[in-house]
Amino acid sequence: MLQTEVVIIGAGAAGLMCAFTAAARGRRVLLLDHANKAGKKILMSGGGRCNFTNLYTEPANFLSGNPHFCKSALARYTQWDFIDLVSRHGIPYHEKKLGQLFCDNKASDILGMLIDECQQAGVDLRLDTAVQCIDKTEIGFCLQSDAGELHCQSLVIATGGLSIPTLGASGFGYQVARQFGHTVLPTRAGLVPFTVTDPSLKAMCEALSGTSVEDCQVTCNGQSFRENILFTHRGLSGPAILQISSYWQPGDVVEIDLLPHLDLPTWLDEQRHERPNTELKTLLGELFTRKMATLLAEHWFESRPLKQYGKAELEAIAERLARWQLVPAGTEGYRTAEVTLGGVDTREVSSKTMESQKVAGLYFVGEVLDVTGHLGGFNFQWAWASGYAAAQHV
Ligand code: FDA
Repeated sequence: MLQTEVVIIGAGAAGLMCAFTAAARGRRVLLLDHANKAGKKILMSGGGRCNFTNLYTEPANFLSGNPHFCKSALARYTQWDFIDLVSRHGIPYHEKKLGQLFCDNKASDILGMLIDECQQAGVDLRLDTAVQCIDKTEIGFCLQSDAGELHCQSLVIATGGLSIPTLGASGFGYQVARQFGHTVLPTRAGLVPFTVTDPSLKAMCEALSGTSVEDCQVTCNGQSFRENILFTHRGLSGPAILQISSYWQPGDVVEIDLLPHLDLPTWLDEQRHERPNTELKTLLGELFTRKMATLLAEHWFESRPLKQYGKAELEAIAERLARWQLVPAGTEGYRTAEVTLGGVDTREVSSKTMESQKVAGLYFVGEVLDVTGHLGGFNFQWAWASGYAAAQHV
C-alpha cells in the first residue's frame, strides 16, 4: 500500500503542470498515466512544434456551457507566465501568426521542460499504470491500480478528452465524474475536418484535394473565422474549418466567403469594362489556383467573355463566391479531432481551485472539463492555467 498526499491521474499537459506546481509547494505528488509515455499529445501538437500558448489569450477564445468559468484560472496563470517558464528553460520559440507561439525546434522541448520541472520538484511519475477503481475514504481516496493500493488526500483527474484514442485518450475522467455524482455534458469532436457526401460537393472536394484557399471567412451559428480552408478527399479542413467545426451541429449550414478581402461586385464590373474579352475562367484564375478556377467555371458558372454578362449576372456570381453555403455530412470524429467539446459540467466545480463542489478533495483539470479553446495554443493555455489553479489547493 502506498500513502501519498496527492494523486494525479493523467500525465498530459494539465497533469504535468499540476504535478510540479503542487510538488514545488511541498506536496507529495504521485502522477500516474496508463500510457507508456507522458505527454504524447504535446509531442504530436502543432505539427511537431507545439503551439504552446497564444499571446492574445482571453476568455472569449473558449467555448463552455458556463463561459465565465475559465476567467479566474486564466487570469491567475497567464500566457506570460508560461512564456516566462519557457524562456527560463532557454527554449527558442517564435510567433507564427495571430499570436500563436511555436517552438523553433521540437515539441519535445516543451515536454522535456515539464518533465524536468517534475523531476526537480520530486514528483513520483509512474507510466503504464492504470487505475481500476476509486473509493472515497474518510480523509481522501483509495485507488486500486497497477501500482497496487494507493491512498491520498487529494485526487486530480487530468485524463483529457476523447480525441485520438491512439494517443492514450479514454473516457475515464467522465466515468470518475459520474461515479461521484457529477454531470457530464454531452461530448463531441471539436477542431475537426468536415466530411461531405453530397455527390457534386464530394466530387469537387476530391478534385481539389490538397488545394487551399487563403483568407476565407467561414460562418456558422453567428460565429465567423477568417483563415485558410483546405479541400481534402473527404471534405474540408484547414484552420478556418477546424475553428468553425466547434460551433457546428449536425444539419447546420456553413457559409463560406471565398474572397472576403475583395468588393467582388465592384471588382467584376470594373474588369468587364477594362477587359471585356477576358473569359470568366481566366479572371477566376487570378483569384484561385488554375484548377479551382476551371472547376468553378465548369460547375458553378458558365464561362464566357466578360462582355457577355449583364450586371445582374455578375452580381449573382459575386454572391455565389461570397456566400457559398453547404451542409457538411459530419466530421471526421475523434480519430482526427484536436479536442473534445463538452465534458465535466463546470457549474459543479470551483472556478478558483478546480475542486469538485460535490466531493471534497476531488479536482478536475484540463480538457476533461467543459472548457474548449479555439485553435491557436488556447487549449494548452487552459491546461497550464487549470493545472496551476488546482495545484495551489491540492
Ligand atoms: P491530455 O490529453 O494532454 O492528457 C491526458 C493524459 O491522461 C494522457 O497522457 C493519457 O494517456 C492519460 N489518460 C487518459 N486516460 C487515462 C486513464 N484511464 N488512466 C491513466 N491515464 C489516462 N492544443 C494547443 O493548444 N496547441 C496545439 O498545437 C495543439 N495541437 C494538437 C494536436 C493534436 C494532434 C491533438 C490531438 C491535440 C492538439 N491540441 C493542441 C490540443 C491539446 O493537445 C489538448 O487540449 C491538451 O493536451 C489537453 O491537455 P490535458 O492534460 O487535459 O489532456
